[in-house]
Amino acid sequence: MKVTGILLLLIVTMMSCGSDNSKNENSDGRNLVLGLLQVNLSDKGLGPIKELVLSDINLDMAKEGKIIFTAKCRACHRVGKRFIGPDIVGLLDRRSPEWIMNMILNPEQMIQENEQARKLLLEYSTPMSNQSITENQARKMLEYFRTIN
Ligand code: HEC
Repeated sequence: MKVTGILLLLIVTMMSCGSDNSKNENSDGRNLVLGLLQVNLSDKGLGPIKELVLSDINLDMAKEGKIIFTAKCRACHRVGKRFIGPDIVGLLDRRSPEWIMNMILNPEQMIQENEQARKLLLEYSTPMSNQSITENQARKMLEYFRTIN
C-alpha cells in the first residue's frame, strides 16, 4: 500500500511538472493566446489616445455611454454575444483602455496598421466602421464597458 502511495505521488509530481513546462512555452510576456481570442494589454493602438489612467467607475458617465452605444454601435455589437462584431463583455480583459478608445476613434488606421485589429478583421471579415464619435463620447462608452466587463 505504502509503495503504491509513493508511486502515485511521484506520477502526480511528474505530471504537474510537465504541465508547468508547457505553460511556460505557451506564454509570451503579457500576450496570451486563448483560442482565437488575442489578449494584449500592453498594446495601446494607434490614434489620439496615448495614455489613459482609469480610476473608480463613474456611473453617470457609464449611463450616458450606454445610450451612445445603443444608438451608434448596437447595429454590429451585442452585449454578451458575438454578432457582426465581437462581444463587448470582457473587452477590458483583452485590450488596454487606450487601444479600445483608439479603435473607436480611429478604426481605419487601426485595422490597417495595428496587429491586433488586423487579426480581428481577418476573423470577422467586416471592417469596424468609423461612427464619428468624439473623444468625450468614446470615454463615456469605455466607462459603460467597465460596468459590464
Ligand atoms: C458596421 C458594423 C460595426 C459598427 C457600427 C461598429 N462596429 Fe465595432 N467592430 C466591428 C467589427 C466587425 C469588429 C471586428 C473586426 C474589425 O475590427 O474590423 C469591431 C471591433 C470593435 C472593437 C474591438 C473589439 C475587440 O474584441 O477587441 C471595439 C472596441 C469596437 N468595435 C467598438 C465599437 C463601438 C464603441 C462602436 C460604436 C461607436 C462600434 N464598434 C461600431 C463592427 C462594427
